[in-house]
Amino acid sequence: MDEARSSDIFLQITRADEETIARIVTRLEFRDTDPDFSRWRDRYLGSLDLGAVDSVLEVGAGTGVVARAVARRVSTSTRVIAEDPSAPLLVAGRDRAREAGLDDRIEFVEGDVHALDHPDRSFDVVIAHTVFSHIADPGQALREMARVTRPGGRVVVFDGDIASWTFTHPDTGLNASVHEALLGTVAANPHVMRDLPALADSSDLRIAGFDAHALAEAGSGSYWLSTADTYVPLAARTGRIHADDADRWLEWQHRASDSGTFFAVGNYYTYILTPG
Ligand SMILES: C[S@@+](CC[C@H](N)C(=O)[O-])C[C@H]1O[C@@H](n2cnc3c(N)ncnc32)[C@H](O)[C@@H]1O
Repeated sequence: MDEARSSDIFLQITRADEETIARIVTRLEFRDTDPDFSRWRDRYLGSLDLGAVDSVLEVGAGTGVVARAVARRVSTSTRVIAEDPSAPLLVAGRDRAREAGLDDRIEFVEGDVHALDHPDRSFDVVIAHTVFSHIADPGQALREMARVTRPGGRVVVFDGDIASWTFTHPDTGLNASVHEALLGTVAANPHVMRDLPALADSSDLRIAGFDAHALAEAGSGSYWLSTADTYVPLAARTGRIHADDADRWLEWQHRASDSGTFFAVGNYYTYILTPG
């Protein structure tokens, strides 16, 4: 973890206040509606032959967006466990699963990916979706995910290369300050997806599949406006940027989007890993 950036709100998720949790719930569920984001998730889920597996574990499951997509694809006898350290996110997850008619298909359980409370080789598929950027020790997390995966099973790590997130703004000084504050608020490990091949090697995992995605919006913003709306005010609340500067930068992004001059981009990667 980059200590200089350790105010990642997800890293301190068990201490998050109600307003922060509410913003995170809205954000995680919004991503389910983004066509690129859900297509990339569905692409790796589609490659996993989920109809034939007995058990799937999602670590850092949040409100269970990915677990619900898994539950729709597996057979009724498949065990789907969604784990997260945040009790309020798990409550929101159970509510959303109930609304989707999937509450009897997903077990929501409190858990920390650094110390999984499961026996060795107990899951066919173990998924971390946008988790590795936000945890204290990605190497330890990957070792734990590898430990609980059966031989021939799959470990999936999907996440943003958060250091690549780029917005435009005519005031380059302000823009640089907002980017620094944003990274500090969003990511404990903003480069971790570049380190995944080496981390996988240390965990005795082999790369069985890899996909690279650029999420870019030009003209009007949707995904990236939601990103900015969620995290820039939180960055201001952590004191990483002055509230007036945050407002000024955000207002400009909205005006740019309204007038068709918005631009933002960030890279995302999917790794499908297999033991041995
Ligand atoms: C960006 S959210 C992703 C949630 C979900 N996977 C999704 O994509 O909708 C990051 C999640 O990691 C969880 N998290 C933070 N620290 C964790 C840890 N030590 N072990 C497992 N999950 C953790 C947070 O509570 C949060 O739900």
